[in-house]
Formats: sequence, structure tokens, C-alpha cells
Amino acid sequence: MIAETTIPGPEDEWLLRVRQLSVGFDDDVEQAAVRRLDLDIRRGEVFALVGESGCGKSLTALTILGLLPPGARHLGGTVEHAELGSLLQLSQRQQRAFRGKHIAMVFQEPASALNPVLSIGFQIMEVLRLHRGLSRSEARRQAIDWLRRVAMPDPEERLRAYPHQLSGGQQQRAMLAMALASGPHLLLADEPTTALDVTVQAQVLDLLLDLRQELGLTILLITHDLGVVAQCSDRVGVMYAGALVEEAPVERLFESPAHPYTRGLLASLPRLGGDGPPQGIPGQVPDPGERPPGCVFAPRCSQVMPRCRVADPPWIELSAADGAAAPQDPAAQASHWDRHRSRCYLYEEAAPRRGRAAPREPGPLKDPGTLR
Ligand SMILES: Nc1ncnc2c1ncn2[C@@H]1O[C@H](COP(=O)(O)OP(=O)(O)OP(=O)(O)O)[C@@H](O)[C@H]1O
Ligand code: SF4
Ligand SMILES: [Mg+2]
Repeated sequence: MIAETTIPGPEDEWLLRVRQLSVGFDDDVEQAAVRRLDLDIRRGEVFALVGESGCGKSLTALTILGLLPPGARHLGGTVEHAELGSLLQLSQRQQRAFRGKHIAMVFQEPASALNPVLSIGFQIMEVLRLHRGLSRSEARRQAIDWLRRVAMPDPEERLRAYPHQLSGGQQQRAMLAMALASGPHLLLADEPTTALDVTVQAQVLDLLLDLRQELGLTILLITHDLGVVAQCSDRVGVMYAGALVEEAPVERLFESPAHPYTRGLLASLPRLGGDGPPQGIPGQVPDPGERPPGCVFAPRCSQVMPRCRVADPPWIELSAADGAAAPQDPAAQASHWDRHRSRCYLYEEAAPRRGRAAPREPGPLKDPGTLR
């Protein structure tokens, strides 16, 4: 059956609720970089947002934080926070007050987010003094401690360093320390581990999971790395060309990916001992102004049908049948947070009768491609 796009989460569990959010660089919602996005984030979870480059992941996070890049416009929709209210309705002053203190962000480009003329120690201590009201000596002690927790080598020495004196991975860790130091309850982490080698990445991910346990930190994790997603997220949203196309608990997504795009992303992963190079997805994410009508993924989809080119597919609730995604029995109701849903006509095709067969298996992918 077709799901409503506006089903609310259980009242006591949701922290962030995004509804029909559109953000673009001109007035056309259809061509908006983020287009009618619905997203629910549960308290204390790690929700991973994945998708190829240019899908709108960073723009989504920046909009939640009220930091639209120059030229970007909010074209519609809402961002509701359970305690802070409607975030996009707040004044600039109110937004500045919650930013950092309640909701912090690890920006994708740490070099441009850190102030180049201030030492990283000064920047982290400023956060601690401003948002936590600490004395200078206590702020210094805690800044060193945060740098140690994000696996910064020689943290006391690094406190005096300016951003240009740090490697990309060290800048990323300084940014993370600064974001965590204010004690936010929601962290928007945009590719927080891309510049880190695998051992440091593992330490940083462990730290985030520890903080979730210790402090109930909720995390929106943006990444193109499906290994990171598998390692530390609870639920996953797959984004394509400005909109979500699949949403599921992490195990379900990896066991029974439904949308051909998600299957393509998973087929792009290299496998030890696999037969030949990983398959990829042919073609590229279209620019917002060049999206085709109907399903935006149609030009790249090996299972495209005539109707796909006519209208956007609706959300369809799914369940696992013999390990494969299948339309959900109308009598079964997955909890809001356990639901698996996808926007693809393959499942609607199979949906009308109970006891129906699972949709066709995915066809072969045409050309090798990459995730980024
Ligand atoms: N300042 C801008 N002016 C015009 N278009 C922009 C601007 N910033 C982003 N866009 C467009 O918005 C879309 C979404 O960009 P966004 O940075 O959110 O992608 P992303 O999913 O974070 O990609 P990546 O994985 O490369 O970080 C892209 O098509 C991009 O070209
Ligand atoms: S709706 Fe059609 S084109 Fe789009 S992903 Fe599904 S099968 Fe492919
Ligand atoms: Mg980005």
C-alpha cells in the first residue's frame, strides 16, 4: 500500500521532524536542490543520510541549522524540533542561540569552517566558555580532553596550532572536538571521517557511539561511506537528486535493499574475494535544473518501465519476504521507527493483492561507476 508522507512519529520519541522541505537556487520547487524532503529523527539514534555527490545531503543539514549558503532559498516545508519548535521560523538571534549549544555541526569542509587566524585551542575554549560558562583554566583543561578524545596526537601542543598548521584529518578532528565541546544534544555530522585513516576513523566512530550511550546524543550522520553506515547507524535514508528514495533500519537496508538506486550503491562496494570489480551505477546524478519528469532515477535504472517516465513514484511500505523486500501486507503495521519504505513503481506493481510475489530481481547494471 501507499504510505502517507506525513505520518508523525510517536510523540515522545521524535526529536527532529522535517516535512516537505524544499531548498533551491531559484523559485522552481521541482528543480530545487532539496525537494519536498520528509525526515524523522528519533531521540538518541544515529540516522545516516547517504547518496552520491550532489544529492543534497549537505544542503539539508545546513538548512536544518539555519545556515543557507549564499543564493540558496527556502522554498517551502518545515523543520520542527521537539523542544525548540519550528527552527526555520526562529529569528536570526534565536537561531544563533541554539546553534552550537543545542545543535552542533561538523562541517564537510573543516578548513573553511575553522577561523584561520585563531588557534584551534582558542576556538574550542571559546565554545566552552560561551556555551558552558567555564573559567579559562577549566576551558583549557576540557579543550585538551576533547582533543584527546577525538584522537588528536599531542593535544596540548596542538592547542596552540592554527588551522593551516594541521593536516586535513587533524582539522576534521579539531572541528569535531569543537562541535562536541558545547555539549549539544543533536549533532549534524557531515562526512566527519572522510579525511581520517581507518584506525583513527574507528576511534572517532567509537567516540560518537560512546557519547550517544553516555549523553543520549542524537546524530544525523551524512556520509558516502556505506562501511561507516553499517558500522554505526540505526536507520538509513537514501537520498537521490534532492529527495529520499528509501528509508529503513540499517540491517534491513543491507539485507533487503529495495530501490534500484540503493541496490546500485551496494553493488558499487568492493568485496574481498568477489568476482571481478564491483558493479557501479551508469550515468550521474542530474543537476537540479536537468531532472527528467517522472522518476528522477529512470535514465540510470535498468528496470525502468514506461510509467516511470510519467509521474513520481509514491512511497510504498515494505516488509522482508524470504530476505527480499516485498510490499507489506496491509494487515501488518511496522512501528514508525522500524518501517522500511521505498519510492519505486516495482513495488506498487506487485502491491494490489495479498500473497503476491516479490518484485522482479534487479537486472544487470550497465557500466561501472563510483559512489562519489
Ligand atoms: N552555492 C550553490 N549554488 C548553486 N548550486 C549549489 C550551491 N551549493 C550546492 N548547490 C547544488 O545543490 C545540490 C546539492 O548540493 P549538496 O552540497 O547538498 O550535495 P551533497 O549531497 O552534500 O554532495 P557531496 O557528497 O559532494 O558533499 C548540488 O546539485 C549542487 O550543485
Ligand atoms: S520507479 Fe521505475 S525508474 Fe524509478 S527506480 Fe523504480 S523501476 Fe526504476
Ligand atoms: Mg556534502
